[in-house]
Formats: sequence, C-alpha cells, structure tokens
Amino acid sequence: MKTYKIGLLKGDGIGPEIVESAVRVLEAVGKKHGVSFVFTPYLIGGAAIDACGQPLPQETVEGCLASDSVLLGAVGGPKWDGLPGNIRPEKALLGIRAAMGLFTNLRPAKLYPALKNACPLREDIAAKGFDIMIVRELTGGIYFGDRGYRDGEYGEEAYDTERYSRMEIERIVRVAFETARKRRKKVTSIDKANVLETSRLWRKIFHEIAEQYPDVEIADMLVDNAAMQLVRDPSQFDVIVTSNMFGDILSDEASQITGSIGMLPSASLNDGKRGLYEPIHGSAPDIAGQNKANPIATVLSAAMMLLYAFDERAASDDIVTAVDKVLQAGYRTADIANGATMYLSTSEMTDKIIQSLSGEKV
Ligand code: IPM
Ligand code: MN
Repeated sequence: MKTYKIGLLKGDGIGPEIVESAVRVLEAVGKKHGVSFVFTPYLIGGAAIDACGQPLPQETVEGCLASDSVLLGAVGGPKWDGLPGNIRPEKALLGIRAAMGLFTNLRPAKLYPALKNACPLREDIAAKGFDIMIVRELTGGIYFGDRGYRDGEYGEEAYDTERYSRMEIERIVRVAFETARKRRKKVTSIDKANVLETSRLWRKIFHEIAEQYPDVEIADMLVDNAAMQLVRDPSQFDVIVTSNMFGDILSDEASQITGSIGMLPSASLNDGKRGLYEPIHGSAPDIAGQNKANPIATVLSAAMMLLYAFDERAASDDIVTAVDKVLQAGYRTADIANGATMYLSTSEMTDKIIQSLSGEKV
C-alpha cells in the first residue's frame, strides 16, 4: 500500500476543525483507494506564537520540507492583531511559502450548479456559469519587496515595494499557459501596466512567452477593469495569471461569486509539485470552535493534493463527486444556506461527504 506523509498545519480559529474534516475525508477515500496517510501536526501562526513565541518555528519548516505534502487550515485572529509585522501569524504563511519555494498558487473558482442561488450575481449572469483558474504568483511582488518605516518629508512614513524579476514572471506565466492547455486554452494576464513598471515588464514577458503557445488565446486586462469584469461577466475567463497582491484580492472576489468563500480550495506549488494545500479563506475567529465552519474548501484542497501531489486522480475525483452529490442533495452549511434555517454543522457536513464517498445515498 502506498503511504504518504502529510504535514498538518492546523493554525488558528476554525483551522483545527476544518483540517480535522479533511483528514477524516482523506482517511475514508484512502481506505477505498488503497492508499494510506501518516499525518504529523506542526505548529504555525497564533498557535505557534502562544506555544513558543514565534509564528513559524524552525521545526515546522523542517517538518514541512520533509513531508510529501502539507495541508494547512488558516492562521491569524484578533488575539495576535496587535503584534508587530514580523511576528504576526500571517508572517508564518509568507515564511512557509518562501521556505518551500511555492511560487505558484492555483485558485480555482467555479460555480456549482447546485449553488446558483447562493451566487450574489444577477440571475442571467449566474445562469451562464463560470469556471476560472486563478494562477497567482506567490513568492514575489509587494509581499516580499523591501518595506519599512522612515522619517519622511512630512514626518513618519511607511513604504512597501513591488518588485518582480524576469525569472519570476517567466515561470509563473509558463504555469498559466500549461494550465490553460489542459482547460479551455485562454489566458488573461491581469496587471496595472498603465501605472506600474513591474506590470509593464510583466506584460512584455507575458507576450514573449505567449508566442510559444500559439494554440492558447490571450488577453491583457487592467486590474481595475478585471475587478469589474468578474462581476459583469465571469464566464469570459478561463485561466487568469497575475501578481501576488492582485491575485490575493481578485481571488477573494472570485470566491464570493461562487456563493461562499468557504467553498474555494487552493494549491501552492513549487517545481516539485508537492506543495501546500489550503482553503483560500481565513481563520474566521467569529465562528471558531463552534462547529459551524464550512469544511468544503479544505476538503477540496485535500482533493487537489491527491491530484497534484500524488497523482491519485481517481481518489481526487471521488472527493469532488462526493461534495457535488451532497450539495445536489440540498445539504448546506450556514454560509451557503442562503437564509434557510436548516443547515449542517462542520462535522455533519463532513459525515455527509464521507457517507457519499462510501457509495451510500445521501
Ligand atoms: C491568502 C491570505 C494571505 C495572503 C494572508 C493571510 C497573508 O489572504 O492566502 O489569500 O494575503 O496571501
Ligand atoms: Mn487572501
């Protein structure tokens, strides 16, 4: 039997609950498909600050690097909001991305037919559906550029710097084209080339690489327009490729038009593809520990892990189908209940998904 070593970064807020759900689903699907997992938890974020005074302990970095793949819940919460930037829980996320070299962040946003009425878009727009893959650059740009405080002309000032090298742009753009080739063969590159020098370099390189992919249709779009087009007609997008910060913002927007941010998984990959898998939502401190969170984004992140990290396509598809069936049967968590008063808890939704996996009718 194949055994995979998975590092678990439960993190803060709802993190532990949703990671627990994904672990249960992985165990169930593993049994069915003859693969097993060894899960090893490591501290990250606020939980790590509380335990040892720093958000990303060395042991966590080493554990993740030694794992076959990593599953992360979420980090952060009001308890740690007052801390200086370099020891905030979020810093751990940036640290682990950098340490593992995870320059590619894949964030799929598709509208589940069963959730059309949770979609906040006008009915005729939702009716067209959408299936977008956001390819977000994850280890560069303003997130990692020079930053600081200084005495400016008008006293105290702060600055952050957007910086991109040719190498960083080339490799993420290539990922986007390769991804598009397996989908509907269209890449939209999103930038702010009317203002930013980094965007002008991005756009130039995007066009250079595009010449190597004549079978893929391309478009450039300014980020402000893209924010508008996402709600005006999301069906026009197939693959979106964009910088770290624009990808952060646009992926939240894309998630909300799917009905809930609680639905969106992600994969963060390096060249080795094994990577780190996490829901795109945050730690939701307001509902933490209440068994209310939607576990689907994390469960689908586990499905992405099976596919991308382990090439276990059948097991991955099985999870996606199980989630589909549960949604189609009308089961909801609070965030996608669309005002209905009957909905499932985190653990009940997980049970339903596992029941569906086992072939039982849900
Ligand atoms: C995300 C999050 C992170 C990001 C934060 C928590 C650092 O918003 O994964 O989208 O901005 O990348
Ligand atoms: Mn974000």
